[in-house]
Amino acid sequence: MTDDWCGWREAAETALYGDEGFYRRPEGPAGHFRTSVHASSLFAGAVARLLAGTARELGTDEVALVDVGAGRGELLTGVLAAVPAGLRVRAYAVEIAGRPPGLDPRIEWCAEPPQGVTGLLFANEWLDNVPTDLAEADADGVARRVMVRRADGTERLGDPVSGADAEWLRRWWPLTSPGDRAEIGRPRDEAWARAVASLAGGLAVAVDYAHVRESRPPFGTLTGFRAGREVRPVPDGSCDLTSHVALDACAAAGSAVAGEPAEVRDQRAALRELGVSGERPPLSLASADPAGYLRALAASGEAAELTARGGLGDFGWLSQRVRAG
Ligand SMILES: C[S@@+](CC[C@H](N)C(=O)[O-])C[C@H]1O[C@@H](n2cnc3c(N)ncnc32)[C@H](O)[C@@H]1O
Repeated sequence: MTDDWCGWREAAETALYGDEGFYRRPEGPAGHFRTSVHASSLFAGAVARLLAGTARELGTDEVALVDVGAGRGELLTGVLAAVPAGLRVRAYAVEIAGRPPGLDPRIEWCAEPPQGVTGLLFANEWLDNVPTDLAEADADGVARRVMVRRADGTERLGDPVSGADAEWLRRWWPLTSPGDRAEIGRPRDEAWARAVASLAGGLAVAVDYAHVRESRPPFGTLTGFRAGREVRPVPDGSCDLTSHVALDACAAAGSAVAGEPAEVRDQRAALRELGVSGERPPLSLASADPAGYLRALAASGEAAELTARGGLGDFGWLSQRVRAG
């Protein structure tokens, strides 16, 4: 076993995105967990309506759709199939992993968001995978950086957190009692601010499991996932490493760049507004149109999953408008 200790941010960066990293694997994220994108095509339909609404607000019939952390391009494929006739869409998949074979040639595959485009930037379950350092309050209540051994995930406390990270903790996630832990979300704020700044106009939306300052989890939420199961987080490339997002901090960072207020609400409210509801079809439809009734029943089941309390419906939607010109 190597005795290779470092902070969690550096360890996770290599474990997820290094040459042999977890996200470079051919099976892609869908091989290990289910996001809203995989749960139902209703999600892509809702994003298509959001894109059309964004185009209307911009007064154009040609818009960009930028999917940050695009996985294997599943969301973009679904949205392109659902956009209304007459709306021309330039689709960009921003992804660290390589372009999958057979992807729709209309989708441009890029390592960074394109600069200066106008339209909708959408990031579903991206920010939770932006690696952060961890801090833990020691016996005297001093916040120290958590160091981890890459080979087996063993932890020990390092130096006191200082500088910009200490400032971030003070503002967004103060540690008060010995043993309390926090994910230092500064890299996520910065990543989100860069994504917002790439738009020349339109709307940027980040969707993720999230918490806000009033209700931070006392011990943080760092978790590993492999093949659909939660596993102990070990930064050796064998599993996903994820933690809930301090979405209020990201909102403040994006808002500062855009010069416009940000809005955070849950997926339940956001999807309802976009016409996705878990209501069952009327029973009278069963005799009038049995096939239509079955289709509507299946759709209402999928909508219920996307909007469920205690599940995907609790995800946060951070919306940031960017004024054109
Ligand atoms: C949890 S998956 C979500 C995939 C997809 N958005 C979905 O909802 O099914 C996160 C994805 O973000 C990608 N990713 C993480 N950081 C990135 C970055 N800085 N630039 C581009 N892609 C990134 C990962 O490679 C991974 O495919």
